[in-house]
Amino acid sequence: MFQTKITEVLGIEYPLVGGTMMWISTPEFVAAVSEAGGLGILGSVMYEGREAFAHAIDRVRALTDKPFAVNINLFPIARPIDNSEYLDVVIEKGVRIVETSGHSAPEELCARFKEAGLIWIHKCVGLRYALKAQNMGADIITVVGYENGGATGKLDIGTLVLVPRVSEAVRVPVIGGGGVSDGKGFLAVLALGAEGVIVGTRLLATQEAPIHDNLKRALVEASELDTMLIMRSIGNTHRVWANAAAQRCVELEANQADLPEILKIVAGEKARRMYDTGALDEGVISCGQCVGLVHDIPTVGELFGNIIAQAADINRRLAGS
Ligand SMILES: Cc1cc2nc3c(=O)[nH]c(=O)nc-3n(C[C@H](O)[C@H](O)[C@H](O)COP(=O)(O)O)c2cc1C
Repeated sequence: MFQTKITEVLGIEYPLVGGTMMWISTPEFVAAVSEAGGLGILGSVMYEGREAFAHAIDRVRALTDKPFAVNINLFPIARPIDNSEYLDVVIEKGVRIVETSGHSAPEELCARFKEAGLIWIHKCVGLRYALKAQNMGADIITVVGYENGGATGKLDIGTLVLVPRVSEAVRVPVIGGGGVSDGKGFLAVLALGAEGVIVGTRLLATQEAPIHDNLKRALVEASELDTMLIMRSIGNTHRVWANAAAQRCVELEANQADLPEILKIVAGEKARRMYDTGALDEGVISCGQCVGLVHDIPTVGELFGNIIAQAADINRRLAGS
């Protein structure tokens, strides 16, 4: 059921991708997503230095023999990174799938993806970026609509319009998302023309997500009204959970605070402290509007099973109507 070009090309059971999540996409979590039949994506920028990153890849491999990918981050604001070093490790370790996200990929990086025979997925938020990535050789385009958790870009196009617009215009397979928490959203995104579906926010409330139970419970209780946009003033708009830290961030922005002041609030260390201790106002966490559709904390396997079963059920119902 739901075999598509994405399941075929990536060698996965379901056309489901676990979106890269900074500090959350650890080897254990990535392996859980891949073991559950989706594509787990390891965040390279979480690791400082080749050795730590190489070790993380080994750890994923120790936990699963299923396909997984590595994300190369093209929009770091807090610390400069050398993506060519991460790519060296990806190639040395024989990882087959790489995902880029953020600004457009530098030419030399794309050339190396091709030389190494990698499957290159580029994630973006608009048609013009999708076309550019396709022209640069991307094998798969992921697009996420404005309701998504994390970076929203500046075009503000919702998933219902963005996914068909991009699917119609590009030759390569499309993974769509932004707002998917259940089988309804999953099936809708496939109906819009995507061949795969990316899920981020929904995965935060799973047993395996490496964040404190307080935070998981708070997200289960949150509604679709509990997200907000931050960092628009510095050209790095993110949709996040509307806690006190996020409110503080927009206040600073309204007062024309400078970048270092804003970065103090959104700093990775603060988010990590919140993830570890469950102190809910300590840092900022990306979160999409589909948090309003999150009602429980299953394992990733149960979640994916439920999504597929619900989608199959709706599909049968619609076919019979
Ligand atoms: C907590 C969190 C952290 C994220 N971190 C990243 C990241 O580091 N890099 C990235 O490309 N996308 C990141 N994203 C975006 C997801 O990979 C995915 O594209 C998005 O969550 C899909 O939309 P949804 O949240 O509506 O499902 C993050 C999302 C969340 C919820």
